[in-house]
Amino acid sequence: MSQQSAYLDAFFDYLRFPSISTDSRHAADVEACADWLVARFTKMGLSAEKYPTAKHPVVVAKSEKKPDRPTVLIYGHYDVQPVDPVEEWDTPPFEPTIRDGRIFCRGATDNKGQNFAHLLGIEEALKEDGELPVNIIYLLEGEEEIGSPNLPAFLEAHRDLLAADICAVSDTGMIGPGIPTMTYGLRGIACLEFLIKGPGFDLHSGVYGGAVANPAQIVANLVASLHDQNGRVQIPGFYDSVVELESWERDMWAALPDGDAATLAETGCPGHWGELGYTALEKRWGRPTAEVNGIGGGYQGEGSKTVIPREAMAKLSFRLVPDQDPVAIINAATEYLKNQVGDYCEIEVEPGHDGPAYVMDPHSPYGKAAQRALESTFADKPRLIREGGSIPIIQSIKDVLGVDTLMLGLALPDCQIHAPNENFTLENFEAGIKLNRALLRELAQG
Ligand code: BES
Ligand code: MN
Repeated sequence: MSQQSAYLDAFFDYLRFPSISTDSRHAADVEACADWLVARFTKMGLSAEKYPTAKHPVVVAKSEKKPDRPTVLIYGHYDVQPVDPVEEWDTPPFEPTIRDGRIFCRGATDNKGQNFAHLLGIEEALKEDGELPVNIIYLLEGEEEIGSPNLPAFLEAHRDLLAADICAVSDTGMIGPGIPTMTYGLRGIACLEFLIKGPGFDLHSGVYGGAVANPAQIVANLVASLHDQNGRVQIPGFYDSVVELESWERDMWAALPDGDAATLAETGCPGHWGELGYTALEKRWGRPTAEVNGIGGGYQGEGSKTVIPREAMAKLSFRLVPDQDPVAIINAATEYLKNQVGDYCEIEVEPGHDGPAYVMDPHSPYGKAAQRALESTFADKPRLIREGGSIPIIQSIKDVLGVDTLMLGLALPDCQIHAPNENFTLENFEAGIKLNRALLRELAQG
């Protein structure tokens, strides 16, 4: 069997676990995936252990510690997003399938493909060189896609086990195929959902319509009140602690391939939207937002049903930038929503998960080492970007373990993470293995 097909067999075994962290029906699959990882790490010569948490387990694997070498903490997640709408997948979501040079499967890119490539890089180095140029601590969690509720406490409880000089993560994107990309910032996140309750039961909309508040209408009013006509979030205090983009960042991003055009091409949206005065990349990477992730209430079936629903709801998330405080944002949003509803209905607001934005200095010594690794892997100068997505644990790693994180992700704009037909290119799978080896070599230089 060729090396590549042996790698792919193992990767496919990993992908087949439906390790959907948000769905309690899959708890046993998440657990089994963790066991599989422990076995794999053990087989390649690391000492690996599964640690239970209040929900899904954490896996930690360590190489033999050589005192004269820096220690690199590699973080990734083995949980995945749900697969719905499942009917939009061209092949079953947990049956890895290769088409057109891409591996299709839920988790193929986010994040199993990326963390497995790093694992294989380590395995290859151990096989060929008998040792690693750095000490490795590989931390894989099963709760990233639900906001890592138990990982901060795990970091606190295992400071010594996890003590490292630098952290590296492959869970971000590349601006295009073959273009080495280093991410030096992430947006934060703050989630909430609200429920509007009106009549005691669904009403006939002809008999009572016009005289009682319709909860679906109130939800729509509240959602519409989030932004003004210039795309700015209207919640009082929302922008108070926002750190503006630096001019070097705006200049650097303006020199990247046209982000406005790319944003339309990648998304299929017919036109631009959002905060006035910013390019699409600035809006996505460096500005805070309010989004509606779900909205519901009333009759959704075929035809019409003349009803005033008893209640209606919306799920919101805010993407945050330095130095916004997620809890302060949830509180401000809660107050803003509550202040707008009169005594004609009731509102319940439930806070969800949150995490702050993160930025690091890409020109620090380890940052430069990461850039050298990218440059040697892709034979091109790395582009420095921030990302709109969030990995809340990265700031906790900084706060609790005191180290910065190098983000060298391999997600491509068309890899469909969180969507049907998620895929990872074979090219990036291979590049990831090479990148890991280059990274460990460069980090050993400091
Ligand atoms: N890998 C993503 C985050 C990401 C995506 C970073 C694309 C950069 C580019 C991560 O797995 C993710 O989806 N995070 C969630 C976090 C949330 C559930 C707390 C997100 O951003 O929505
Ligand atoms: Mn994700």
